[in-house]
Amino acid sequence: MNPCNKKQFEKYLIENFEWFHRHPELPYEEVQTTARIRELLTEAGIEILPYPLETGLVAVVRGEKKSVKSNEQSKGACREADISDKENRVSALRCDIDALPIVEEAEVPYASESKGRMHACGHDLHITAGIGAAILLQERKEELCGTVKFIFQPAEEESHGALKILENDVMDDVECIWGFHADPTNAVGVIGIREGYVTAAVDRFVIRVQGVGCHGAHPDDGIDPIVTSAAIVQGLHSIVGRNVNAFHPALLSVTRIQAGTTWNVIPAVAEMEGTVRTMDREDRILYEKRVREVAERTAEAYGARAETEWTAGPPATYNDGRMAQICEEAAEKLHMKTVPEESSMGGDDFAYYEDRDTMDRDVPGCYVKIGTGVGNPIHHPAFCVDESVILPAAEYLVELLLAGR
Ligand code: NI
Repeated sequence: MNPCNKKQFEKYLIENFEWFHRHPELPYEEVQTTARIRELLTEAGIEILPYPLETGLVAVVRGEKKSVKSNEQSKGACREADISDKENRVSALRCDIDALPIVEEAEVPYASESKGRMHACGHDLHITAGIGAAILLQERKEELCGTVKFIFQPAEEESHGALKILENDVMDDVECIWGFHADPTNAVGVIGIREGYVTAAVDRFVIRVQGVGCHGAHPDDGIDPIVTSAAIVQGLHSIVGRNVNAFHPALLSVTRIQAGTTWNVIPAVAEMEGTVRTMDREDRILYEKRVREVAERTAEAYGARAETEWTAGPPATYNDGRMAQICEEAAEKLHMKTVPEESSMGGDDFAYYEDRDTMDRDVPGCYVKIGTGVGNPIHHPAFCVDESVILPAAEYLVELLLAGR
């Protein structure tokens, strides 16, 4: 494989993409995937850092471009004026590597060989474009000022694979981080970019309502947790309309409600579960407070008791303005089209890497969407990626990494 021979390199990337697609692995089970990534990077002479990760790995490309003071700036030196320490700077690219428990229906010759598992979220593209970018960047290391860590992250679909990476201090020296995702709503050659929030904070709640069971014909003998739950659901849905700023995206969905076993018994207990999605940090805090209040006080009004269990998932992803601008410039340089990135109330654990509460400092980040050909949405059993995107995606990522922040 010679990255300087474009045709040959593209063939190499496509063959590897197909291998990853044929061998999908679920979160935290990405053993073969990790071994293959390690093998390909090692063959290409790329250094793997010795973090003790069970799945996933971190590779590194060290730039050779020297930085100089503004008055000495010349070819072969960093472009910024007063940042002579730029060569010591570390940035990162996150590539998630896990697949989903889906039976594949895509009619591709390289379909999943693992029944009930599928790369239906394009993480096979993320892996391959990440490997391609590492190899191309290594070839251009004399143009790179500073160091780039390539984070091949496990378990994005479980929403906490990023925390495994963070536990291993991978991000301790990283000053900014790039992320990307396959986007089947756009054609190949189109990049979705937006400054500001692009994915939501993902929280989960479970509410248990304790009533008093009785005969269905004598509700006056008990306390009905079903009627109480119905009132709680109504109350929960009023939070977005009455408590949250109307200009802030936020939503709540009750997605499971369970109670009772038969037609003539009022049960003692009901349980409901759901999710809250917010962009704004304050709204997230407000929502937790209001969900607890509505559940507990409504239950009280009905003579029942409610307990709320709140599980915080990843925060919202916020795209840094300067980095979003670099994404635009890189697209222009490579003659790619840009469109405003679609914000989503879905989440991505990429947000942990740039979250001030998690990191105890500001880590600017930017997460772009790479058009993979218009087709079925992500997580669909017939989702597929147009393979002609793989090399351009790798080349695009290299431009971001060379530009730095
Ligand atoms: Ni994904």
